Amino acid sequence: MNLNRRLFLHSGLMTGAAMALSPRAHAETTMPDWHIGYQTAPAAGFGPGPMRLVSGKAPVGLSGTLYRNGPAQFKHGNAYATHWFDGDGMVQRVNIADGKAVHTGRYVATKKRQLEMAADKFLAPGFGTVGDPSYPVASSDDVNPGNISVLMSGGELLALWEAGSAYRLDPVTLETRGFKTWRNDLKGMPFLAHPKREPDGRVWNLAISGRHIGIYNINPDGSTAAFGMVDIGAASYIHDWTMTDRKLVILCQPWIQTKNTPPFIGGFQWKPEQGMKFLIVDKDDLTRTRWAQGPARAFYHTGSAWEDADGTIRLDAAFYPEPVLGSGGGADEIRGQFKGEHVSSKLTMAVIPTKGDAKMVETNIAGDFPQVDPRRAGLSRKLTAMITGSVDGRPGGSALAVQDWSSGKAEIYDFGSQYMVEEHLFIPKPSSTSERDSWIIGTAINTRAQRSEVWAFDASSVEDGPVAVWQADYAWPLGFHGTWSNA
Ligand SMILES: [Fe+2]
Repeated sequence: MNLNRRLFLHSGLMTGAAMALSPRAHAETTMPDWHIGYQTAPAAGFGPGPMRLVSGKAPVGLSGTLYRNGPAQFKHGNAYATHWFDGDGMVQRVNIADGKAVHTGRYVATKKRQLEMAADKFLAPGFGTVGDPSYPVASSDDVNPGNISVLMSGGELLALWEAGSAYRLDPVTLETRGFKTWRNDLKGMPFLAHPKREPDGRVWNLAISGRHIGIYNINPDGSTAAFGMVDIGAASYIHDWTMTDRKLVILCQPWIQTKNTPPFIGGFQWKPEQGMKFLIVDKDDLTRTRWAQGPARAFYHTGSAWEDADGTIRLDAAFYPEPVLGSGGGADEIRGQFKGEHVSSKLTMAVIPTKGDAKMVETNIAGDFPQVDPRRAGLSRKLTAMITGSVDGRPGGSALAVQDWSSGKAEIYDFGSQYMVEEHLFIPKPSSTSERDSWIIGTAINTRAQRSEVWAFDASSVEDGPVAVWQADYAWPLGFHGTWSNA
């Protein structure tokens, strides 16, 4: 298997004792207020420190930990990172217990980070970064920034990238313990940043390497049940995928790798004439597959999928008319500039019949980061939460939408123009079963206050606004994805 330079990530850090002591001291006064989301976090991280309840009441029964991951190193000296996806990963931990929230943030301790911090330079090639030819790359893990998402598995917290191994972290201190090896013969095998968990805790995930896709089947206790392979015929860019209770669905967008030199994403070409292809794989027998064809769409993220009684598969995703955040993606924002381009995606339901082509049923909700109730993962459901809204003159979402597929209507809560809203997760209420019996929890940066906040909504009344908001004394950088642990 070609594990080569499936590069992603880089970035840097410029820090100092003053920064470590005062996380807000690194704010650059000439930058727009939203730039706080793209500023390098202190090398020592954040906290643990209390967040303050600034609105509402802490919901009774809400107890657990929100973990999130994202790039946090955007500068070395005077040099800016050249792609948003290439910043060193920092895991944020917000523990909520007895109505109180406590935040901790720590960088993932990677080889890339160690070498770039020592040199105070960006060196590693990445997803959108050419890199320095002198940087030693023997495997993709040499450039692995561990910066996209997190997974709790078998009591371990894993920091995930898409082209390399998962990093093991202490779930309380966030100390990095090394790479995760799922099985001795799988050492170094990529572990995608978008694993899928069945309601009973079983996890499925992909290992991407060109046209060859590995498939992990992980037991609820974190042990590896099986690993298999499928061939998707061409090296589509695969950041996410989805599954029903019985089928894996690999969405092959027509963004195809035609060369393999840094930056990684620069080797992909958009070939819309090929349309979107769906590979549907039987979970019980990975050799049983079928293909379906759909119109061309680009995407980063799915919600989830389910299968009707007649075998029709329905999946929702944030689909774009063409690729976004390719080479150079986010470089302007890292420099505090915004060219005025807001997301062009639409929350869409793809309907894949047992025979014939897939159809796309579009909503008018523009946005990304779709999420569903984890109790309904792979099963029929009504709700999808998604970040939407835009504000003139600055990047990022400003609202939370909850689409009800049964009514075709969406509820939207607008946070206000001073907010940059991040992914929100469904958290089931104790001893309940309905999707509406959930809290929807996520983070947002209050650009006016220059502080990060955690917002909690009741899924039964999203339009009424949050039931509780906790605010930190500082802002941490915008991130990508999170997970919730009841511990
Ligand atoms: Fe993602």
